[in-house]
Amino acid sequence: MARSGLNSSGTDVNSELPKKKLTKQSFQQGLRIFRFTLPYRAKFSIGTVLLTLSSASTMAFPWLIGKLADAASGHPLVLPNGTVVTINQIALGFAVLILLQGLFSFGRIWFFTQVSEFTVRDIRQALYQKFVSLPIPYFEKHRVGAITSRITSDVGIIQDSFSLTLAELFRQVMTLLAGIVFIMVVSVKLSLFMLLTFPPIVVLAMVFGKKIRVLAKTTQDELAKTNVIVEETLQGINTVKAFTNEQFETGRYTASLTNTVRAALKSNLYRGGFVSFVIIGLFGGIVLVLWRAATLVQAGQMTIGDLTQFALYTMFIGASVAGLGELYGKVQSTLGASERILEILDEPTEPTHQPGALPLQVHGNIEYRHVAFSYPTRPDLPVLQDISFAIQAGEKIALVGPSGAGKSTIVQLLMQFYELSGGSIVVDGRDIGQYDLTELRRHIGIVPQETILFGGSIRENIAYGKITATDEEIVQAARKANAWQFISSFPEGLDTLVGERGIKLSGGQRQRIAIARAILKNPAILILDEATSSLDSESEKLVQQAMDELMQNRTSIIIAHRLSTIRKVDKILVIDGGRIVEQGTHEELAHSENGLYANLLKLQFELT
Ligand SMILES: Nc1ncnc2c1ncn2[C@@H]1O[C@H](COP(=O)(O)OP(=O)(O)OP(=O)(O)O)[C@@H](O)[C@H]1O
Ligand SMILES: [Mg+2]
Repeated sequence: MARSGLNSSGTDVNSELPKKKLTKQSFQQGLRIFRFTLPYRAKFSIGTVLLTLSSASTMAFPWLIGKLADAASGHPLVLPNGTVVTINQIALGFAVLILLQGLFSFGRIWFFTQVSEFTVRDIRQALYQKFVSLPIPYFEKHRVGAITSRITSDVGIIQDSFSLTLAELFRQVMTLLAGIVFIMVVSVKLSLFMLLTFPPIVVLAMVFGKKIRVLAKTTQDELAKTNVIVEETLQGINTVKAFTNEQFETGRYTASLTNTVRAALKSNLYRGGFVSFVIIGLFGGIVLVLWRAATLVQAGQMTIGDLTQFALYTMFIGASVAGLGELYGKVQSTLGASERILEILDEPTEPTHQPGALPLQVHGNIEYRHVAFSYPTRPDLPVLQDISFAIQAGEKIALVGPSGAGKSTIVQLLMQFYELSGGSIVVDGRDIGQYDLTELRRHIGIVPQETILFGGSIRENIAYGKITATDEEIVQAARKANAWQFISSFPEGLDTLVGERGIKLSGGQRQRIAIARAILKNPAILILDEATSSLDSESEKLVQQAMDELMQNRTSIIIAHRLSTIRKVDKILVIDGGRIVEQGTHEELAHSENGLYANLLKLQFELT
């Protein structure tokens, strides 16, 4: 478990993420994320209608302003039936339009936010559910930081796009199309002139924009590297201090920060260039068009109102083109994010909770048949080879052997944390692969080698063995595990907070909480992996009594380094280099000349 701690500094995960090219396929892939909006499609449709209305009312402004200018300069609007529209009437039209615009915008935001909030909740929930049901090897192959950033930043990007990007995209496209139609209506000649000047500017802007995105990403990557340093060193702050490397780490961090600044400045050089280009190019284009328009007005081919309308629509078009350029990048990152999310959602899960599975009755006969195994992260290194043994229900066996021999691995395979590379494990005559995983695990209790507690209270941590446990049951279990003594000495008792991963408790206290958990779970099969390793001899004796009690009538597998704790077991398996090298009772093994067990025994006897 400590492994994941070192790996959790995954803030540089973004550097591993390829930007999505906008191809038809990536588009179709990315669109699959939309299935999460389906339950809210009514709201989505209302939002879209309101968005259309608000965009349309925005487009009416330049038109009205033009009419106002015409009315002021003596060319008032005359309706088909001959009535002349006054300035006041136009102003009234403005007032109505503004009111409507406000209303539409409010509604649009309200409905789209609802869709995005609910959708994002559903995506996060689906991701989390997926994560907790993924098999253990997944977590050994991926860094915790990379996994959490899926559920935070990637989902954040999706949220942005449902609440903002989509609406923005829709509006800009509408503005662009409507704008072009409007200017065509006002003056075809002038429109053609304008449309000739714009595309070159747009193409240049896109090239520029791409370069900036690349540079911005480099900056982000550099920043992520500085974060990795902060995280790693803060997590191992004790080590930093013990080796008096404060100055060294500060220097490392400073160097990394300098790199970030360098990258950021370079990226902003281009950004600055881009802005001035847009100002010069876009506004220059507008001025050019205005100049042409002025000559047309002078020649009597256009009115002042037409000119005003034309200029305003041109600005609208310019703004929407610029906006679309920016949106292009956003759409790209949205597609990337949604693809990464969908990739996780498509991962195969553990076969837990098979539908229609009946509650199990486990007796606890266990048989390992020629089990072979290598960890998926190191497939070439055989960790276990030809492990065969049998335990009758209610029996106790012990696994002993040198560190790294494979003892913990053997018991983890019973929990089906990993797939076997060969052989089979049979419980009550049935291959464990045929069980409903959740049901089978429900009957196995484990006190692991390294106890990791959750950050809450002692009560919550013990009740983890049985979520519905009453306080009475919890206290009872704590007493049996010899933990009640220290728990009751804390002023807050069961409500004492244990700190992140349980760091506010001593190793031995954590272990006894883990034992209390297992007692509460009341499993048919009990696994104790060095369960008393962090206890002093006095507590060990007490916990040992509790465990002897706990082991009654249960199949128990005990892993122990201190051989004195396993004298009474039915059978001892001596593991070395991933194989069973000896087996028998304590009496048998202790007296076999040159046996590994007899040797270990001798060594420990000399030590104590
Ligand atoms: N998650 C893992 N991924 C890859 N290799 C692993 C993993 N866990 C353990 N190993 C390797 O498998 C071998 C057996 O490890 P295991 O934890 O089963 O030993 P052990 O007998 O329990 O040792 P100890 O007495 O020190 O707890 C070791 O060589 C170890 O490096
Ligand atoms: Mg171990």
